[in-house]
Amino acid sequence: MDELVVVAGATGYVGRHLVEGLDARGYRVRALVRSRDRAEKPGAFGAPSLSGHVAEWRIVDFEAPETIEGVCEGADRVVSALGVTRQKASPWQIDFRGNLAVLADAEKHALASFAYVNVLHSDAGDSMTMRSKFAFAQALSRSRVTPQIVNPSGYFSDMTDFLRMAQRGMGFTMGSGSTKVNPIHGADLASFIVDRVGGAGGAWDVGGPDTFTYRQLEELAFRVAGRTPHILRVGEGVGDAMTWLADRGSPRLGNLTRFFVESLTVDAVGTPIGERHLEPYLRSVA
Ligand SMILES: NC(=O)c1ccc[n+]([C@@H]2O[C@H](COP(=O)([O-])OP(=O)(O)OC[C@H]3O[C@@H](n4cnc5c(N)ncnc54)[C@H](OP(=O)(O)O)[C@@H]3O)[C@@H](O)[C@H]2O)c1
Repeated sequence: MDELVVVAGATGYVGRHLVEGLDARGYRVRALVRSRDRAEKPGAFGAPSLSGHVAEWRIVDFEAPETIEGVCEGADRVVSALGVTRQKASPWQIDFRGNLAVLADAEKHALASFAYVNVLHSDAGDSMTMRSKFAFAQALSRSRVTPQIVNPSGYFSDMTDFLRMAQRGMGFTMGSGSTKVNPIHGADLASFIVDRVGGAGGAWDVGGPDTFTYRQLEELAFRVAGRTPHILRVGEGVGDAMTWLADRGSPRLGNLTRFFVESLTVDAVGTPIGERHLEPYLRSVA
């Protein structure tokens, strides 16, 4: 296979697994990155280095649209895992406008498809992260470039937050902790996406092989940490109070808090795919 695939968000947890997976399947990768030096070092949460997996580098800044022009020229397809998670930028600027700039360039250069890593239930979310992702997914679904929209549940990388809290002897659930999630490893998600690159358009809700309640996730985290569980049960009304307070702090804090509360109170269970299980992953990063 000699197709050239533009990867946006190539240095992220999922992006790194995507680049590695595309390269392994014989695609040539054009990676859009802020720093090649950082890209060639191992990523966080066990994600791989991009060293040796990239055919072409483009240095971009998604907050400076002029740096996006021409990134799709001469390429065949786009895969995007671009989005704000722990970064400081606004999700509207990056998840929506950044991806939109790449899509405009893909349309201009008549690329065949655009695979986008969205998030499960972005259509119902209230946070700026959810709204920005949903807005881009809608724009993509109306594009003349074949849209492939993948809606994952939570990632293994995010589940390490529960482990770090358990290692400090703390844990909590919102209400009884009965909200469900089936977290997925970045490599399993990447493999699912790479299988679809080159195929038909569509939308897929996906998650990992095991479904947990947040209570069970806390218990798992304490087991892996080797500590006696101390799990505080936070009343459901506290989420509203936290969001109200955070909104008065800054838009970023308000969005993060709203997104966090959404995650803890709305089930995120996609079609189970992949083979990697959470417990051995958490043990590997403990
Ligand atoms: N984490 C989850 O549980 C979860 C669940 C479902 C869906 N998602 C979505 O999946 C996508 C990938 O998630 P992830 O955990 O792999 O995220 P991540 O590790 O934070 O990676 C995000 C990517 O976007 C890039 N990016 C962010 N802000 C940027 C900016 N201002 N300018 C240039 N590049 C920027 C990052 O570049 P740098 O490395 O240079 O920062 C990185 O390459 C995100 O859109 C996320 O919303 C996440």
